[in-house]
Amino acid sequence: MIETTYMGLELRSPVIVSSGPLTQNLVSLKKAEEAGAGAVVLKSIFEEQINNDISKEMAENEEYLAHSDAGTFFASSARDYYIDRYMKLLTEAKKELSIPVIASISAKSMDSWIDWAERFVKCGADGIELNYYPISSDASVPGEEVDERFIDFARKAREGIDGPLSIKMGYKYSSLASLISSLDQIGIDGFVLFNRFFRPDIDIEKLEISSASPVSSKDEYAEALRWIGLMSGEVKADFAGNTGIHNGETTVKMLLSGAKAVEICTAVVQHGFGVIGEINSFVEDWMKRHNYASTSDFIGLLSQEHIQDGWKWERTQFLKTIGQ
Ligand SMILES: Cc1cc2nc3c(=O)[nH]c(=O)nc-3n(C[C@H](O)[C@H](O)[C@H](O)COP(=O)(O)O)c2cc1C
Repeated sequence: MIETTYMGLELRSPVIVSSGPLTQNLVSLKKAEEAGAGAVVLKSIFEEQINNDISKEMAENEEYLAHSDAGTFFASSARDYYIDRYMKLLTEAKKELSIPVIASISAKSMDSWIDWAERFVKCGADGIELNYYPISSDASVPGEEVDERFIDFARKAREGIDGPLSIKMGYKYSSLASLISSLDQIGIDGFVLFNRFFRPDIDIEKLEISSASPVSSKDEYAEALRWIGLMSGEVKADFAGNTGIHNGETTVKMLLSGAKAVEICTAVVQHGFGVIGEINSFVEDWMKRHNYASTSDFIGLLSQEHIQDGWKWERTQFLKTIGQ
């Protein structure tokens, strides 16, 4: 009854365990399935980290790798090592789990990781989720160029990768609606709104840059809700809500705004895998109370295109001042 479809995949529940600490080994992946998850997204393989590790190793072994061929050979075998390790987890997960297993690539370059994705698809990945966030901190690069690069990136991904392909993205673009619409036209099957990226902070005692909390609070879902509400009726691709979805109530809100599924991480980190069953039960009970037999009866019911007062999704200002 709480089944849904996401990027053409049949999910027994709208709850997907998102890429992160809970999806990096087989034991946790099996727990996610046992707890009732609809799918899992494996912890990302990070292009940037692999490149950094390889550069570090090469610098430490400079005298042995002085010959240019040796360097190239070393870099390519080291890269294969990381990819093989990822494929091992993916192959094991595909063997042991019956729910869809989505591989995740945190991409930095435009296309060097495409052959990794192809190998993951050959290993049985049910889909590829690309985690991509070019931070536009270069003042000489105008917004359109940042968007164009993103669109090029997605085009290359679509041309190179067979099967369901999603992009997990942020929202700081000059026109998010136009960007999502262009990515949809390229044939991206799913959008995960929004990734919660590393956030910097400052340690005022050590006078150092530090890291803000990696976990979300349960009130952080509003921007994802807004943008799914605005865009889900506009494009062919499916949406998965992400960030700040900690319970059944927020999951129902996401589905009403038009999400086909939700991806959760913090709730499971903080409360254990049991929270997945709790969300499933909440959604089921809510559907009974509202006489919905299937999730398709209410997914998108409150998206902008389905309601009279759709302008509410665009509202940004509190119109009354405090005290009035
Ligand atoms: C410790 C940690 C590691 C994460 N690693 C990844 C990752 O490898 N790839 C990715 O796409 N997202 C990663 N995430 C982000 C989560 O998948 C998720 O998008 C984010 O936590 C927001 O969802 P939430 O509010 O349910 O936690 C990570 C999050 C945490 C807390």
